[in-house]
Amino acid sequence: MVSDESNKEGSLVLGIDIGGSALKSAPVDTLSGGIVSELFTVPLPETATPDAMTEAAGVCIDHFEWSGPIGCGYPGVVKGGVVLTAAHVSREWIEVDIIRQLSQITRGAVTVLNDADAAGLAEMRFGAGKDYNRANGGTVLMVTLGTGIGTALFHDGQLFPNTEFGHVFLSSGIEAEDIAAASIRTKEDLSWQVWGGRVNKYLHEMAKLVSPDLIILGGGVSENFDSFQQYLNSTLEIRVAALGNTAGIVGAALAATEGISI
Ligand code: BGC
Repeated sequence: MVSDESNKEGSLVLGIDIGGSALKSAPVDTLSGGIVSELFTVPLPETATPDAMTEAAGVCIDHFEWSGPIGCGYPGVVKGGVVLTAAHVSREWIEVDIIRQLSQITRGAVTVLNDADAAGLAEMRFGAGKDYNRANGGTVLMVTLGTGIGTALFHDGQLFPNTEFGHVFLSSGIEAEDIAAASIRTKEDLSWQVWGGRVNKYLHEMAKLVSPDLIILGGGVSENFDSFQQYLNSTLEIRVAALGNTAGIVGAALAATEGISI
């Protein structure tokens, strides 16, 4: 439990990252970007419904005995608190007011944004994009390689939300995330070379589309960057997410304190 006493400055927010297979959570000190308790993960059933996810979020809230604000990353488009897409979760999510849904189980204010946007916010503030997070910082593209491909686009430190570039078509009729997500490497048992080649092709395509000054690669697989780095031949600067798998949690918490409007 994190006591009200330890949150005197109101900087602690419970960060929740809804993923394709699990919901991860931890209280985050939004001033330092640090996680103040061990990460708590609740597995999710395949294609999780709003009810299943809300129940899992409730387990996290109970685990931390949390009554303060909550920031939550959702793996799809969220506008004004309403879910518009559901690529890796149940289609029942579409048009659900996710803020209202989560508010039913918590006393604190709830903020929800796209999971990759959340990860990008954290990397820009505390991680690999820190030195680009300023006026004239240029364009930064964060790419999360996980169950799907998530993206977050920043220009001069400002987020352009809900970019959804994981769905660009790489080959005729095939979306990037259907061939280059980290989950595809595991599912199809691809070598690092084959999968790295696909990621390379994707990054070239993205470079053509948004001319980034920096690309940040995130998602769990970024921990294996050494295994596929050699297959990326972009001349662009590519960095690995500094916050690794916790970026989504930290960024969701940050969004809650900063009143990011989406
Ligand atoms: C969704 C994105 C999400 C990404 C990573 C994609 O399928 O469309 O919104 O950011 O997966 O979870």
